[in-house]
Formats: sequence, C-alpha cells, structure tokens
Amino acid sequence: MHIQDKPYKGKKYYIRTYGCQMNERDSETIAGILTALGYEGAQSERTADLIIFNTCCVRETAERKAYGRLNALKRLKRKNPDLLIGVGGCMAQKDRERVLSTVPHVDFVFGTHNIQELPEILKEATTARKPVVQLWEEARGIPELPSLRSGGVSAYVTITHGCTNYCSYCIVPYVRGRELSRRPGDIINEVRRLVRQGYGEITLLGQNVNTYGRDLGEGFTFAQLLRDVNSVDGLRRLRYTTSHPRDFSTDIIEAVRDCDKVCEHFHLPLQAGSNLILKKMNRGYTREGYLRLIEKVRKLVPANSISTDIIVGFPGETEADFADTLDMVRRVRFDNAFTFLFSPRSGTPAADMPEQVPLGVKKERLNRLMALQDRISRDINEKLRGQELEVLVEGSSKRRKEILTGRTRTNKLVLFAGGEELKGELVTVRITRPQTWNLYGELI
Ligand code: SAH
Ligand code: SF4
Ligand code: F3S
Repeated sequence: MHIQDKPYKGKKYYIRTYGCQMNERDSETIAGILTALGYEGAQSERTADLIIFNTCCVRETAERKAYGRLNALKRLKRKNPDLLIGVGGCMAQKDRERVLSTVPHVDFVFGTHNIQELPEILKEATTARKPVVQLWEEARGIPELPSLRSGGVSAYVTITHGCTNYCSYCIVPYVRGRELSRRPGDIINEVRRLVRQGYGEITLLGQNVNTYGRDLGEGFTFAQLLRDVNSVDGLRRLRYTTSHPRDFSTDIIEAVRDCDKVCEHFHLPLQAGSNLILKKMNRGYTREGYLRLIEKVRKLVPANSISTDIIVGFPGETEADFADTLDMVRRVRFDNAFTFLFSPRSGTPAADMPEQVPLGVKKERLNRLMALQDRISRDINEKLRGQELEVLVEGSSKRRKEILTGRTRTNKLVLFAGGEELKGELVTVRITRPQTWNLYGELI
C-alpha cells in the first residue's frame, strides 16, 4: 500500500458495518487507512464526504438491511454529487453485479481481499465516470495494515482469515477464501502493542480459531498460541471466537484451564441437535460427541459458561429432528444461544437441497426454541443472585451516564452504578437482580 501525504485532509468518512467481529475488525482497518489518507470520522452519513458500507451476506436479512440503507443514500447523493459511496465486505464479494445494478449511485465496489487497495480505488473513484470495481477472487497473502481502533477496553486480534470448513449452509468460505493463519510472532507483537496502548482484554478472531496454524505446517497449534498470548505482561483477559466443536481438542481445554487470563466462556456452535441434520450440514460431529465434549469442558474448567449458535429449519428438518435440537438444549443447558432461521444462500449446497422448510414452520420452531432457551438462561442467571463476580468495566451505558457496564469472565453483561473513572478496571460486583439477558448489581 502506498500512501502519499494526507491527500484527503479535511474530508470526512462514515463507515457502516454489518455482520461478524471479522467485519468489525476490517472496518477498523478501513478507518486506519482512511485516517492515514487524511480523512476524519463524521458523526453521521449526512455530514460525510465518503460513506463506506462493510457488508455481510451470511443471511438474507443482513443483505436486505444493507440494500435498504444503500437505497436511502440516493437522496444524499443527489444533494451532494461529490459524495463518494463505496460498498465492500462479503455481500460485495458474493455478488458485485447485484450491488452495481441495485445501487446505481455507488462509486466503488471492493472485495474482502482488496481493503489494502483503498487508496488507489479512492483516487480512481474521484475522477471515474462509472463505478470502480476492485475484487480479487482469492487472498494474495496477509498484508499488515494500519488500524483505527475504538479506544475501548477490549480489542480484536485476527489470527486466521477465511474458512475451509464448508458447512453446507454457509457462504463464508466462498466470500472469505480458504483459511490462512497469521504468523504467531505477528500476533504476539500486535497483542503486546495493544496492551501497551491500554487494552486490557484481547479477543482472538477467526471463523474457526481451533485449527489455527495448520496451514503454516510448523506444528504450531491454537493451544500453544493461547499459552503464548496468556504470558504477555499487562494483559488481563483473553478470549477467542469462534470455536468448532469438531476441532475443540483436549489440549485446547487444558490450555484454557491452565492459563489464568483465558476466560471461562465457551462458545461452541451446535447448529442442530439431530445427527441426520448435522451430517447434512457437514459439521463433522454427532450429538453424542458434542455432549461428551461439553462434559469434558465442564469437568476440566468448572464455573464456566457455554453459549451456542443454532439454525432452525435446515432443509429436510422434520419435527422429530427439531425435537432433537430442543432435547440438546435441555441437556446441555446453554447460558445463551444465538438462534437463526435457515436462510438459503445461493451457491451453497444447502440452498439446492430438496425439502426446504416453509417459512411459517421455521418461525414457529424458532419461537419454541427461543422460549425454551430464555427459561434456561433466566434460571441459570437466577443462581447468580447474591454472588460476587469479577467484572471488567467497559464504560458508561449509552442511555444512563451514571450506570456502568462490564462483563464477567463468563461473558455476561453486568450493569451497576459507578463513575466513568472505573473504565478499564477489574472490579467486584454483587449481583442483586439477575435477568435473562443481563445482570444488575452493585459495586463492592
Ligand atoms: N465461523 C463461525 C461464524 C459463522 S456465521 C462459526 O462457525 O460459528 C455465524 C452463525 O450464523 C453460524 O454459526 C450459523 O449458526 C449462522 N449461519 C450461517 N449460515 C447461515 C444460513 N445460511 N442461515 C442461517 N444461519 C446461518
Ligand atoms: Fe461457516 Fe462453518 Fe466456516 Fe463457520 S465453520 S464460517 S459456519 S463454513
Ligand atoms: Fe457476514 Fe462475512 Fe462475517 S458473511 S458473518 S461478515 S464473514
């Protein structure tokens, strides 16, 4: 990447981000590049000279939201013809033609592997008469790029790019490319730098972090990486996402047990409870295997929390298959579950499978699943009433300045009265009013 001397000084940008933490992390990189070019952040789209949408295509709802908002930008563009509008991220990577035809007022489209080319793309877009498109089908190495981070308490550090699992419902491998691991040394250096800047909590990111290092071919594992990052001085908490139940090996659980900074929160996406559906999803584990894994996790790391992702209405899912999912939820008793309606993604095998489940049936099943999970979440949280928990303070809540928010090691959101000066501190909070989604407490 070549950046001349702040050519866009005085101009303002606004980035709208959809999707997962990987996308949030990419938006920090986009912001870093724009800052190096002289741009400053705008408060809203209305006051921006450049608007970038960093999009997601994992479900149709994510795409619909982005297209809706992009359409609404037409008015701004009419008022200010110099406004630049760019669309990047997974939706752009998946279908540039659809972006170009649906959003005729777009100035540039860039793929998930082309963020480093933004300076050249912007230059071209400023003078071009038609939309500039820069989109590689595959990654060409992993560039080290500048970042502008939020300045909060917690920072993301990417450890793997892409995904090579090909779960049959999922678009991610097609839009993010094959799994590529960053070098351990680069990761450790980034963590050290962030800790020096005051970030107390680091979350290691990848679509399947458990297979970290395989592509490097040096025998360096995710468990080893956890141990190495754990030993960085000044770091207070270490998290990682996402894990894959198939690859969550015993050496990883042992590393979590042994490393004092690694939090006792396990996010293990189950996706479905029926063996037949799991097989069709290409997940590589069975319900029995998943239950054994949960048992091992609870034995080796007590006092933990476990969350999951579940898809409802995968093609061919019968009422009996769905009952298996409910049964797994009852057996495992997750602290929290992110539940989704199956959304056919063209290009993935599941989109063309027969026996697609009607939307009405999917919605009815999702409601039953959510009602069950809510009861379980509330029951589990109720047991925390009166307990004193370690909380990392994230800052004041958006709506009420005098209320602080923070997270327990088990990743539960806690709200309590306190002053802004506690931001970034580890404090002890007694839980006074547990709820389904968060915990109210008081500082002690
Ligand atoms: N790599 C991560 C994140 C993938 S996307 C993981 O494996 O968990 C996050 C979640 O979206 C997935 O866990 C899955 O539950 C859901 N998801 C992915 N594709 C989907 C689809 N086509 N329809 C509905 N939900 C989907
Ligand atoms: Fe998608 Fe599966 Fe990869 Fe997760 S592990 S990103 S669900 S293909
Ligand atoms: Fe969405 Fe892309 Fe993440 S499809 S979930 S933003 S990897």
